[in-house]
This record gives sequence, structure tokens and C-alpha cells, in this order.
Amino acid sequence: MPVVVRPRDPRDVDALVAVLAVVHEHDRYPIVGAHVEAGWILEPDGPAWVAELDGAVIGQAALQSGVDQVAASALGVGPAEALTLARFFVAPAARGTGAARSLLDAVESYARGAGRPLALEVVAHNEAARTLYAGRGWTPLGSYAARWFGDDGPAFEAHRFVLPTVGAPRPGDVERSGT
Ligand SMILES: CC(C)(COP(=O)(O)OP(=O)(O)OC[C@H]1O[C@@H](n2cnc3c(N)ncnc32)[C@H](O)[C@@H]1OP(=O)(O)O)[C@@H](O)C(=O)NCCC(=O)NCCS
Repeated sequence: MPVVVRPRDPRDVDALVAVLAVVHEHDRYPIVGAHVEAGWILEPDGPAWVAELDGAVIGQAALQSGVDQVAASALGVGPAEALTLARFFVAPAARGTGAARSLLDAVESYARGAGRPLALEVVAHNEAARTLYAGRGWTPLGSYAARWFGDDGPAFEAHRFVLPTVGAPRPGDVERSGT
């Protein structure tokens, strides 16, 4: 059966926590086990989608409003104008089925419709995700040593990617096309 992507429902959360526990063990995503919980999955303030395979929830992608200044500058927008891809994962047992591709299709289509560009950060050890973004035309902005756990905590090499809005109307387009 093909993968089905649909908006997340509150009833999906328990299944997503169970999937995330396996992803954490398999991929160190999230980095810390304490984040394997509903609050972390639900934290982004934007829309979220889940992927289903044979009727079971096997992954999700979510959006958070706003991006950091580095991504905003690369995109040529204010930080509040863009969206950040977050909490994106697929169960190891369901990989290679196109689930991630379908989730990203939903994310990118939403962003295009909203006329908002996208950004994300991915740690160096999540190599499949980095290959996925690069293969879909996201622009790599390089990496930096992220100190997500405080100045005394470990640093993680974080790679930034951005996806400018393509094909969305921009302010002034109507006027320009008429001249
Ligand atoms: C990244 C992830 C979501 C991909 O899930 P998936 O459902 O297997 O991906 P798909 O089947 O849709 O594959 C899409 C593309 O991803 C890339 N990809 C997937 N698995 C890969 C792997 N093991 N190595 C390299 N590239 C890989 C390929 O470009 C692939 O395209 P192809 O099939 O044409 O080669 C999954 O590996 C995952 O959950 N990883 C851990 C969490 C994570 O890193 N999240 C991202 C945080 S920013």
C-alpha cells in the first residue's frame, strides 16, 4: 500500500512518541532521550503532517514559525517571514518507502501556498536527511558548532539548509506584470 500523508490529529501523538523512541535509538534523533515525549513532538507552532503506511502512523514533519538570522539573510527575508522544518522523522522499519519524500512534498507545498520560504538545521550524523534535502534542491549554507545544551555542553555540527519560495506571488508582481 502507498504511503498516505495527512494533517496530524491529536490522536496520533501516542503512536508518534513510540516511533520517535525507535528513531532516537537508531539515529540519535532527537539527540537526548528526554525529548522522546509528546511535548517535544508538539512544540512547533505551525502545521504538522503524519505519514501512514498500512494504516499505521510511521512519521511526521512539522513547521515552526521563524528562522534564525543566518537563514533569513540567505533567503533575503526577515526572520519572521520564513518557516523552519522541525520534528521530522520516519520509523526505521518504514524507510525507503518514500514516506519522507511525501512528507516533504506536503511541507513544501504548504510553504509555497503561504508564500513563505523554508529553512532547517540537521546534525552531521543524520546523513540520510542531509542527502534527502540536497537531492530536493535545498541550498546548503554550511555548518557551525551548535551549542544547544549550553556553553558547557557538547557541541554538535549543525548543517543549515534553505529553500526559497518558488513560484509564489510576491508583493508587486501584479503591478510589474501590467507594465
Ligand atoms: C531522513 C529520513 C526522514 C528519511 O526517511 P525515508 O522515509 O527513508 O526517506 P525516503 O524513502 O522518502 O527517501 C527519500 C530520499 O532520502 C535519502 N535517503 C533516505 N535514506 C537514505 C540513506 N540511508 N542514505 C542516504 N540517503 C538516504 C535519499 O535521497 C532518498 O531518495 P532516493 O530514494 O531517491 O535515493 C529518515 O532517515 C529519518 O527519520 N532519519 C532520522 C531523523 C532525521 O534525521 N530527521 C531529520 C532531522 S533535520
